[in-house]
Amino acid sequence: MRPLIVANWKCNPSTFADAKKLFTAVDRGAKGKRATAVICPPFVFIPGLSALKKKNIKLGAQDAFFQEGPFTSQISAKMLKQFGCEYAIIGHSERRALGESDEIVNKKIKAVVSAGLCPILCIGESGQEREEGKTKEVLERQLGLGLKDISRFKIQDSKLTIAYEPIWAIGTGNACDTDRAKEANIIIRKTMTRIYGKSAANKVKIIYGGSTNPDNALGFVKEAGMNGLLSGGASLDAKKFIAILSKF
Ligand code: PGA
Repeated sequence: MRPLIVANWKCNPSTFADAKKLFTAVDRGAKGKRATAVICPPFVFIPGLSALKKKNIKLGAQDAFFQEGPFTSQISAKMLKQFGCEYAIIGHSERRALGESDEIVNKKIKAVVSAGLCPILCIGESGQEREEGKTKEVLERQLGLGLKDISRFKIQDSKLTIAYEPIWAIGTGNACDTDRAKEANIIIRKTMTRIYGKSAANKVKIIYGGSTNPDNALGFVKEAGMNGLLSGGASLDAKKFIAILSKF
């Protein structure tokens, strides 16, 4: 599997000029790299960035709503598809912290799949859940509910990615160690195999996110067996993000 390296810009940068600069610098730097690089900018920058000539990176969104109609402020998966988005991050812990439930995550995953985008489902335990030994339980629950009623065939065709993002590691500079990331990777793969069977489960990419940087990037793939990374802070610095891409 080619590693998948996803940049989650979150609510950054504050101007389109800076977004353009970062996007074009990353596109240039991604030339000839083995990894697939996906940039997920804020919604408002997507049309402008998708109009730029890019050769080496793909575009994604940080969320996608499951319905069109009277839903003030929401952006649907279909709308994103029209602007060249190929991926959508769903269920990021920063959205769950604002009240997004597993049920909503499930609706969004279904909408993203039917719009023909590749879903990146984020799951992960909080610091407290980790201390209480509940990591496995949390991951199994989030997978079960987030993917509820999605058939094996849909999963097989969806190019689904699961991002293991322990909440305590996000934006803290305190990345998960590779042994723990490996354990989570195994739990996720086993859970997917139990629900969908081996052949569908093996098509799913499992990536790691939480304080990734050029120094720890390779370890998550080589030692923890991850299929790539979801990078927040480091993805806002073109040099750092390109340095991550260059590790693969
Ligand atoms: P971080 O964010 O790399 O800044 O920890 C990762 C994420 O939230 O996806």
